Amino acid sequence: QRNPVGKLLLFGATGDLAQRMLWPSLYGLHADGLLPAGLTIVGSARGDQNDDAFRAFVQKALGQFLAADRKDDEKIASFLERLFFQPADLSDPTSFAPLAEKVGDVSGGLAIYLSTAPSLFEPAVKGLESVGLAGETVRIALEKPLGYDLASSREINDTVAAVFPEDRIFRIDHYLGKETVQNILALRFGNSFFEPVWNAQGIDNVQITIAETVGLEDRAGYYEGAGALRDMVANHMLQLVALIAMEPPALYDGAAIRDEKAKVFRSLRKFTPEDVPSCTVTGQYEEGAVSGKVVKGYDDELGYDSNVETFVAIKAHIDNWRWQGVPFYLRTGKRMAKRRSEIAIQFKPVPHSMFSGRGGVLQPNTLVIRLQPEEYVQLLVMAKEPGLDRDGIRLREVPLNLSMDAEFAGSRRRIAYERLLLDLIEGDQTLFVRRDEVEAQWTWIDSIRAGWDANQTKPKHYAAGTWGPAGAIALTERDGVTWQDD
Ligand code: BG6
Repeated sequence: QRNPVGKLLLFGATGDLAQRMLWPSLYGLHADGLLPAGLTIVGSARGDQNDDAFRAFVQKALGQFLAADRKDDEKIASFLERLFFQPADLSDPTSFAPLAEKVGDVSGGLAIYLSTAPSLFEPAVKGLESVGLAGETVRIALEKPLGYDLASSREINDTVAAVFPEDRIFRIDHYLGKETVQNILALRFGNSFFEPVWNAQGIDNVQITIAETVGLEDRAGYYEGAGALRDMVANHMLQLVALIAMEPPALYDGAAIRDEKAKVFRSLRKFTPEDVPSCTVTGQYEEGAVSGKVVKGYDDELGYDSNVETFVAIKAHIDNWRWQGVPFYLRTGKRMAKRRSEIAIQFKPVPHSMFSGRGGVLQPNTLVIRLQPEEYVQLLVMAKEPGLDRDGIRLREVPLNLSMDAEFAGSRRRIAYERLLLDLIEGDQTLFVRRDEVEAQWTWIDSIRAGWDANQTKPKHYAAGTWGPAGAIALTERDGVTWQDD
């Protein structure tokens, strides 16, 4: 089913994402012998430079962003031989003819990667079509953001669909390229013992946290138009929700998996303006200390006052048979106490405790899937503390531990984009986002934003280096639930 292309064309080839992620990932695939032997890569961006200057640029980026133990001079040299450069201004229709000439024959397949602002998608796909770079052998990958609401995302999707059919469009959500995210599928569907309790009878609540310690990072132009809800929840966070909540697909393939994910997105309970104040919390960081260093507040970084949220917490529900009544608590923020992405699945308590208070408090079992920075799976269970207590046995919560880092110590940690670039080059859409998924995600996100607008919601300030505004704690505590801690 895999169908590798012979050429890759990368727009945004000198951009930040390309330098930090895409070039190191492509090099990683090359170094491991995973790229098709004859694959050539044409980088494109504004600004004139020849192939040699471009190779020097990529070499510098690799020097800066590649892990030290991955640098191999010979392999870097042979990787650079694959590279070519063609300047292009995507908003200028005359850029495309020289581009097509540089790319040459595409009968052996071409993958195009648009790592550019979405405002350039329209002129890009039209220009590509006009010079014969959109035919049957050509596939296209799109970087986020794919719009800022349902209407704008439809517009982008319509524009691209006018030139490329869905089975040749690869929408990137880099979370799907992470090993630990794919491992959710392995855990859920490669083991028999989770499934019977993986529902409203067995599970009390699900908590998903994506906490970052970074702040604005010179991205004011983008982030001011996005905020935490659009930047993280509308894509990465909802993909995690879908993988946790979906029904078992019959096959590990693009159609089956994406069908099930899309059903979850469509089942997300939309918010009314009345629900929003009690089900969502927004925050914005102000000055504080992260990892022992004093950092500025968001407004100070920006240089003006803004109402954009850098933190959001949501109590979500999935209206289907499996999940009725199970809250999914989601939270994500910048400048938080720690970098931590984690899913915690809290099971129902035992129906009756025979220890009746004498052996300590029984904690409900929790399955913790830590995505980053560490990679592990822990099942928190009650066990007997060693000892000769006369009034019964004493219990304590202990982790059954699967450390991916230790168990798979021999395999290197790959950048999420390595998986996605390989799948793009080989034509496997399983880990890419389908149009109906994106649109169902936005429909739900729009219901939250409409609620915020109706209520004139403004983010509450929180000190950098904390877990967000107090309201985020209250969001779960009201239900008698405490956010899973370290
Ligand atoms: C990006 C967001 O999609 O994901 C960033 O735009 C965020 O704001 C990043 O920092 C987080 O990715 P990761 O892989 O570091 O968790």
